[in-house]
Amino acid sequence: RLPEYVQIKEVGARDGLQNEKKWISSADKVAWINMLSESGLSEIEYTSFVNPKMIPALSDAREVGKKIRRNPKVLYSALVPNMKGLEYALEAGIDGASVFMSASEMHNQKNINKTINETFPVLDEVVKEAKDTGKRVTGYISTVFDCPYEGRISPEQVLRVCEKLLESGVDDLSLGDTIGSAVPTQVEQLLEVLMKHYPKEKLILHFHDTRGMAIANIMTSMHYGINRFDSTVGGLGGCPYAPGAAGNVATNDVLYLLHGLGIETGINEKKIQDAGIYIQNKLGKILPSRSLAYFANA
Ligand code: HMG
Ligand code: MG
Repeated sequence: RLPEYVQIKEVGARDGLQNEKKWISSADKVAWINMLSESGLSEIEYTSFVNPKMIPALSDAREVGKKIRRNPKVLYSALVPNMKGLEYALEAGIDGASVFMSASEMHNQKNINKTINETFPVLDEVVKEAKDTGKRVTGYISTVFDCPYEGRISPEQVLRVCEKLLESGVDDLSLGDTIGSAVPTQVEQLLEVLMKHYPKEKLILHFHDTRGMAIANIMTSMHYGINRFDSTVGGLGGCPYAPGAAGNVATNDVLYLLHGLGIETGINEKKIQDAGIYIQNKLGKILPSRSLAYFANA
């Protein structure tokens, strides 16, 4: 039985833009996030408060955070790697903090410059402080199926990271198919293990669509009762520290699927298509979403 309602977190302004070579001005980012804020989305991850040398595309995080027009119906979250990031994020304004690490040792080191065991205490402090200031906290785990450096990752390895993050006090976990390599049987194997330990409310699935498997993987996840997914308008994005990884599953395509199945999202599909055209024009390139392409050419 499929869920009746699915919650989408739009991560285009973060995961989507973080890997783009073309600089999008702060004013254009703000205008785009404002458009997204009026689409019916309930959560927008709007930037990252990370080392700007590692992610230059989001080096204006503080300015963007201060200028976006906040819709009280939207939860505004951002990626936060450490206490310095949390300080900047709180100053710029967040409702939610997203901490992040990987299930695989090598991706964790390339992405955040620490071993897995060194990461836990850093995030522990961030999670506690964010919770003390009343913020919702999500824990992202990357490379939950495959790592670009280490290959297949076991569900038990993922479980260990889940346990530690939940002990720190994160409210929920977003499981990342960072390189978009999983097929539905891998999703089943991971959910079989995790759902013995956690209720579905704790789990969000974050699929990249490198090989076109994301929609199939979302369908499989929904058969397990999962009803929270991350996606990006147009299918923008990719992790700069995961070579060859393409964008996230496109919000446009996910909405076409969900609404076609009669599943409610509260999101206006037309407004998401318009937001896709807007950012596509700003980037000066065609984005991967098939339903955006259909809309643009119709
Ligand atoms: P580090 O190099 O170990 O940290 O970075 P450091 O404390 O030695 O700092 C180095 C420099 O960064 C210093 O500046 C700090 O001030 C500065 P310098 O002295 O060289 O001028 N710095 C900061 N500046 C601003 N804000 C901060 C901050 N922290 C340090 N918060 C760190 C450790 C984690 C910060 C770094 O490795 C980093 O920023 N990594 C981010 C990488 C990233 O953003 N990757 C992409 C997002 S993850 C992703 O896409 C996956 C996901 O989508 C799920 C999935 O798909 O799997 C979430
Ligand atoms: Mg991602």
